[in-house]
Amino acid sequence: MKETVSTTNLFDLRRKIALIPGASRGIGEEIANLLAEQGAHVIVSSRKLEDCESVARGIREAGGSAEAYPCHVGRLDDIKGVFQHIRSIHGRLDILVSNAAANPYFGHILDTGLSSFEKTVEVNLRGYFFMSVEAGKLMREHGGGAIVSTASVNALQPGDKQGIYSITKAAVVNMTRAFAKE
Ligand SMILES: NC(=O)c1ccc[n+]([C@@H]2O[C@H](COP(=O)([O-])OP(=O)(O)OC[C@H]3O[C@@H](n4cnc5c(N)ncnc54)[C@H](OP(=O)(O)O)[C@@H]3O)[C@@H](O)[C@H]2O)c1
Repeated sequence: MKETVSTTNLFDLRRKIALIPGASRGIGEEIANLLAEQGAHVIVSSRKLEDCESVARGIREAGGSAEAYPCHVGRLDDIKGVFQHIRSIHGRLDILVSNAAANPYFGHILDTGLSSFEKTVEVNLRGYFFMSVEAGKLMREHGGGAIVSTASVNALQPGDKQGIYSITKAAVVNMTRAFAKE
């Protein structure tokens, strides 16, 4: 008998593969739990494999499907690595939720140091960008997918003493539109 996907549950994610950078704690962990509850196989990712293993284990113990894979989104080699893994093990990606972010500097915008600037841009901008590029290429091969990027209310109104972070979050909003457009 031909299997049909229920149309009554619009959030049915069975058979979907989801990658979530920044899922080892906080908002990302909750996103991972939620996608797994809806049936997706979740790849829990962040810099620290042990923390990701713990979240993935929790999902499996709750009856879901999950694995852990380490990736520093500020490192292009790490991004290539996680996508090579996904290609070889799963052959496809349906959902990317870019959630990992850095906010290393709280202070007056005129005192922003180069290393804080570079760290924030490296993770929040370059990381999100190349994650989306690699995800888009893989999704295109299999008829599409969904890319969700966590921005912030600071994208719309700069947070007090959070200048460079707010700037990168505003860029994430435009980046999401740019990827959607093309
Ligand atoms: N919390 C808020 O009030 C708030 C408000 C607005 C927007 N946001 C946004 O929501 C998202 C999640 O925030 P959160 O508060 O839940 O963050 P969080 O608790 O600080 O967690 C950050 C997550 O990102 C990972 N991460 C950090 N740097 C990384 C890197 N270079 N490469 C890969 N993973 C990295 C961390 O794991 P590792 O340390 O293991 O890498 C962790 O899993 C962020 O995009 C943030 O900007 C948060």
